[in-house]
Amino acid sequence: MKGLILSGGKGTRLYPLTYTRAKQLIPVANKPVLFRVIEAIRDAGIDEIGIVIGDTGPEIRQAVGDGAQFGVAVTYIPQEAPLGLAHAVKISREFLGDDRFVMFLGDNVLQGGISPLIADFAHHDDWNSQIVLTAVEHPEQYGVAQLNAEGRIARLIEKPKDPPSNLALVGIYMFDHHIFEATDEIAPSFRGELEITDAIQWLVDHGYSVYPHIHRGWWIDTGRPDDMLTANSLVLEELTPAVAGYVDRDSEVDTRVTIEQGAEIINSVVRGPAIIGRNTRIVNSYVGPFTSIYHDVLIENSEIERSIVLEHSAIRDIPARIQDSLIGRHAAVDISALRPRAIKMQLGDHSHLELL
Ligand code: TTP
Repeated sequence: MKGLILSGGKGTRLYPLTYTRAKQLIPVANKPVLFRVIEAIRDAGIDEIGIVIGDTGPEIRQAVGDGAQFGVAVTYIPQEAPLGLAHAVKISREFLGDDRFVMFLGDNVLQGGISPLIADFAHHDDWNSQIVLTAVEHPEQYGVAQLNAEGRIARLIEKPKDPPSNLALVGIYMFDHHIFEATDEIAPSFRGELEITDAIQWLVDHGYSVYPHIHRGWWIDTGRPDDMLTANSLVLEELTPAVAGYVDRDSEVDTRVTIEQGAEIINSVVRGPAIIGRNTRIVNSYVGPFTSIYHDVLIENSEIERSIVLEHSAIRDIPARIQDSLIGRHAAVDISALRPRAIKMQLGDHSHLELL
């Protein structure tokens, strides 16, 4: 089997963080979501992976390279524009050949990996496709599946007003080469994209067998900022803590805290689950639960909780606790020392700031 990761797209819902950066490279618990996806596919025993890339391709190529750091071989497949998930499959035909494959959206995080799922599909040569479903509270907001009496997929409906089930599509799909017949036949939707749900419906309508796999753990599509924070909290809960950095005697660090190489915790309190990145300094500060501070950050005389801070940012002397926040790279949040004392910041386009 081969793996196909979709890492193109625009990431508009995560602006401004994704103006200049691929959303799949935003770290969750200090590891880019895309790296977690590559590792999940590798851990399921697949070592040939194609990655579909768009405008942010150069950055993704630089971060992932040829895949050797993960023990896999990576082939890049440039997509001229985000023309849909089924379009991404269509342009990957040469890489995929006649092999069966798993397709994984590069911005999804799933609990427990995909080994059971891959084993299920591998054991059933006669299945043409298998799609991952999970029970959700508001099926009307998702692509929803209707099963037939034999437990196969009968119909897929995008954001149904009257949902036939509470089983929503998770961003993981398995196919054999018949999917290319579907991607050749279907037409773009009203939003101008070749939809994967239309391609799967085409398989069902033409007598191919599509089976569900019900996922019982958590699953997060990190499309929006709050999803990113939720994914961060869930992954932090599962992290095995390790302290490689320095903690001074005046600091108090919880047992569920990971402190990476070169990080320093000075006269501070860090409550887990949390992670502090390489060469980051936490000075006279409080870092609360469900927080990931990435590499080369300074947090001084401040308090922060349930947040993600990206690399090379500095937060100094903030009188109120920062909470539920996503702070980008090279960001600065300060109070000026001189009168008039004021909060000083550099915010990018489309930034969102709520002050007391
Ligand atoms: P989406 O989240 O559906 O789209 P997007 O990345 O453009 O985000 P937004 O809605 O915020 O603008 O995409 C899911 C994943 O699939 C994501 O990792 C990007 C990738 N993708 C492609 O590689 N090619 C495509 O044509 C599309 C639509 C998405």
